[in-house]
Amino acid sequence: MVVLYQKIIPEKSDQKGNLMEIKDRIIVALDVSSLDKAQSLVEELVPHVGCFKVGLELLTAIGAPKVVEFLHSLGGKVFLDSKFDDIPNTVGKASAAASGLGVSMFNVHASAGVEAMMAAVENKGSSQVLAVTVLTSLEENNAHLIFGGPSKAKVLQLARDAKLAGVDGIICSPQELELLGKQKELADLLKVTPGIRPEWAAAGDQKRITTPVIAIKAGATALVIGRPITKPPEEIGKPAEAAKRIAEEISTALG
Ligand code: C5P
Repeated sequence: MVVLYQKIIPEKSDQKGNLMEIKDRIIVALDVSSLDKAQSLVEELVPHVGCFKVGLELLTAIGAPKVVEFLHSLGGKVFLDSKFDDIPNTVGKASAAASGLGVSMFNVHASAGVEAMMAAVENKGSSQVLAVTVLTSLEENNAHLIFGGPSKAKVLQLARDAKLAGVDGIICSPQELELLGKQKELADLLKVTPGIRPEWAAAGDQKRITTPVIAIKAGATALVIGRPITKPPEEIGKPAEAAKRIAEEISTALG
């Protein structure tokens, strides 16, 4: 069945014109506290997803080199959710360290500034750099207090800064895709978005959610998806089944 859909669904280009397999549009959030807990999940999912996103919990508890080596040994690609936010010199050196690990992508906060993002880009090696715009966990009034304006305006400004710095893409909320899609100058930025819930999955603690179909149609390049894949509802089956189902939904959206 998998082989069948992989054969009949053509690859589509990303915003940069590079061909992307459907599975590369799925980034699994590996929100586990130990590598033991991740092993069987990663082994099962490697053929069906593009990347595994590893975040601050695992990176702090175990260390990035160990986590990356573990995932690479199982054939998984890595999105290092590093969220660098520091002075340009430090961001540049940390970026060189991240790219030295051979990760497929890592990220930096756009609010660290254009120079810090440029330092990341200069040191990205063969990894892709994504810029985090406004964290979607921020309530509107908090975003206003921190950034001095509405979050959407700030997202737009940070996305423009990110483009100026030469990053490969941005991380944004699905709610912002439409606005970002209207900006011609941002057309070639990859747009990676969390907050995704297929219709068959539970929302959990996510508040502002969007289905894979809606997010892809609105211009998302790739989707960060955790629990709907790692802990799918019983009727869906195992994580690999959930990933395959989402791949089919994405391919429908791409047309
Ligand atoms: O399980 P779920 O699909 O909700 O996981 C989403 C992943 O994306 C988690 O790792 C979460 O930390 C991350 N994320 C998010 N919303 C953001 C930024 C990151 O859900 N605004």
